Amino acid sequence: MFFPQYRARRMRSSETIRKMVRETTLSPDDFIYPLFVAHGKGVKKEISSMPGNFQQSVDNIVRDAKETFALGIPAVLLFGIPAAKDSRGSEAYADDGIVQQAVRAIKDAVPDILVVTDVCLCEYTDHGHCGIVENGEIQNDPTVELLCKEALSHARSGADIVAPSDMMDGRVGAIREALDDSGYSGTPIMSYAVKYASSFYGPFREAAESTPAYGDRRSHQMDPANAREALREAELDIDEGADIIMVKPALPYLDIICRLRENTDHPIAAYNVSGEFSMIKAAERLGWMDGRRAMMESLIGIKRAGADIIITYFAKEAAEILSK
Ligand code: PBG
Repeated sequence: MFFPQYRARRMRSSETIRKMVRETTLSPDDFIYPLFVAHGKGVKKEISSMPGNFQQSVDNIVRDAKETFALGIPAVLLFGIPAAKDSRGSEAYADDGIVQQAVRAIKDAVPDILVVTDVCLCEYTDHGHCGIVENGEIQNDPTVELLCKEALSHARSGADIVAPSDMMDGRVGAIREALDDSGYSGTPIMSYAVKYASSFYGPFREAAESTPAYGDRRSHQMDPANAREALREAELDIDEGADIIMVKPALPYLDIICRLRENTDHPIAAYNVSGEFSMIKAAERLGWMDGRRAMMESLIGIKRAGADIIITYFAKEAAEILSK
């Protein structure tokens, strides 16, 4: 009798055989770990909507960066919480700003870790918007000038990679030129090329204290309904000199990662954002899901979709599991 000739289950019968035919693997090398740096000393304040994540002063950030690197994770991504905010986000591009201080301290203590800095104004402006606001509108070109100053200031403090997350038009090219003109032609740009206006950033805005005081970010971040536009955004940033292209958030946009993978040979990063992290943590706390398995499944899914790099608040937890 000819009863299924091909039995898919043969390749699933033991962990050893499953491992042998596994198509996608995860490694701590794939991860970038985001950190929130605040002024002060001995500060370590848990972010209530992101369990296990903290606003930390430079001393504690250095310790965390050491731990992160020891787990085999090659990079951290820094966000700053300034001492004071104003309409032009001055601390963003101050050479003694909090991110600049943290970069110097981390590079001093852990020279081999890659320090990536988020380049945006929203954490530094008193209105919480990503740029200069005039007549109720974010002004693109004046904002780009400040972003160039910010990126340059990060590079001067020793940042290994700058990551503009503002979504202003033309900023990648302008930042590339500013870096090149000042002797930083070797500093790569990881561009938040495809960044959607997403509700999944909710917990981050508590962490970075960057909720807009009025309005939202839909005038510059992408409409969740658009996919072809994502390809165009990525193409523009590549033309302007981006070295790594990012898609953000990750899980609701796996199709975008996949389409980009087919359209570019550039490294692709995916940002597994705060809301994607917090919903798993919340479900785990409620006893509704196995949080560890949901975490690993999310991360492998993002990698399978085509991401080379995953920016994730799960980096340390996942690296611990992977190293066992
Ligand atoms: C902007 C920025 C945001 C995130 C990273 N960079 C927030 C926003 O656009 O409002 C979100 C990251 C996350 O949700 O984990 N500087």
